[in-house]
Amino acid sequence: MTITPELLAKYEISLPRYTSFPTLPHWDQNHFQPSKAIQLLKNQVLLDPRVSLYIHLPFCESLCTFCGCNKRITRNHQVEAPYIQSVLEEWKLYKMLLPTQPVISHIHLGGGTPTFFSPEQLTILITGLLNGQKTAEEYEFSVEVHPNICTTKHLKTLYNLGFRRISVGIQDFDPKVLYSINRNQTFEKTRSIIEEARNIGFTGINVDLVYGLPLQTLDSIAYTLEKIEKLKPHRIAYYAYAHVPWKSKAQRRYTEKDLPSSADRFNMFLFARKWLLSTGYVQVGMDHFAMPHDPLSIAFKAGKLNRNFMGYTTDISPTLIGLGASSISDFNTAYVQNYKEVETYQSTIASGHLAIEKGHLLTEEDVTNKRHIMDVMCKGKIKLPNDLSPEHLAYIEEKITEFINDGLLQWENESLVATEAGLLLIRNIASIMDPYLYRLGMRDNVFSKSI
Ligand SMILES: C[S@@+](CC[C@H](N)C(=O)[O-])C[C@H]1O[C@@H](n2cnc3c(N)ncnc32)[C@H](O)[C@@H]1O
Ligand code: SF4
Repeated sequence: MTITPELLAKYEISLPRYTSFPTLPHWDQNHFQPSKAIQLLKNQVLLDPRVSLYIHLPFCESLCTFCGCNKRITRNHQVEAPYIQSVLEEWKLYKMLLPTQPVISHIHLGGGTPTFFSPEQLTILITGLLNGQKTAEEYEFSVEVHPNICTTKHLKTLYNLGFRRISVGIQDFDPKVLYSINRNQTFEKTRSIIEEARNIGFTGINVDLVYGLPLQTLDSIAYTLEKIEKLKPHRIAYYAYAHVPWKSKAQRRYTEKDLPSSADRFNMFLFARKWLLSTGYVQVGMDHFAMPHDPLSIAFKAGKLNRNFMGYTTDISPTLIGLGASSISDFNTAYVQNYKEVETYQSTIASGHLAIEKGHLLTEEDVTNKRHIMDVMCKGKIKLPNDLSPEHLAYIEEKITEFINDGLLQWENESLVATEAGLLLIRNIASIMDPYLYRLGMRDNVFSKSI
């Protein structure tokens, strides 16, 4: 696989990660009505009752300065109980609206730091959500864990509540890098949490790593990977650091000059990829690696991989309801996002209303393009939609020829598929199918860089 510095420079542009389509900056607020989105949710649940839940638990005890997530830093644990009550109230509001009983397939607790909440509050949350509900035969409950803020009691409680997958935030193990992002985390503590989770019975261990962080080098990446090898996670999410200082103020504590260059970032990814493939992992989509027998690798090979706001997933429920401040829901033909500010979220729920701040109702064109863009992101396959404007189609054909010449796409049994190099630049390939980007042109300071 060869990607020259010239090609890198050519493809390094700001692009969406396509965890949704249309992407959030392109949602059409003018034509959005929450009541219409709810009607679409009802239609969808009548058609197929499988529903997944994402619960956003936004609190963290200390701020990691690289973090682009929606979080609230506090050491005041009095916030826990009222927040959990708001989430349960919100779920009650949804349940009253649904025309039939949903079948819960997945529950994911994300953050922030879900284990900021005590085991008692997490029990109230999960038993409250599941009270009187049907769960799918093969349900999956998963949780994001910061090793410093997670106790044995947390793990045992979550296991007893049905959780079998944990996603451990690591990012990097090099002390210099961790210091620069204000993250106090040791290998020993991380290892003990992972070992404990395995002993308790968790069968899915994911870890999150990030490349492109301040002060990272190939040596520091090697140092981290050596340690990761000892932890033997089933899945590794290897995220490109999203530098979005216009959105995340803490990222302004370091400057661009502390960050690795694009070429360095790309080399870091290639280096880690080679390492992980040689230790037996399978690359899944653009930034995940999984053991060959992990359900994520199996779904990828079978062409059944899916992508939602949490990244690549085996979850195929057509409806995702997001609960909590800033959560995003995908009702298949509509997206909605809750208020980001905790207080506004809680006061809206307390007044008996859903806390929807914004959203997008998908047009027929959006629905087709969503399928095609997700096919590119999940399968690396290009299919041309029929209903594109002649100008957009001509643009796509021109770009495809360019991608083939640049070694990013190739023909395989009459299908156009991404090459190994193309998989690494899959956001660039998917973006040519995005009519919003095509119509509006690319703008800086909206998306993070593709490399
Ligand atoms: C919401 S965080 C939850 C993890 C948990 N709070 C922790 O810190 O261990 C989920 C993951 O998002 C990723 N993430 C956060 N900010 C990011 C950024 N700016 N660029 C890329 N990935 C990021 C990190 O890998 C992180 O582990
Ligand atoms: S990385 Fe995790 S712990 Fe750190 S600020 Fe972000 S959500 Fe909180």
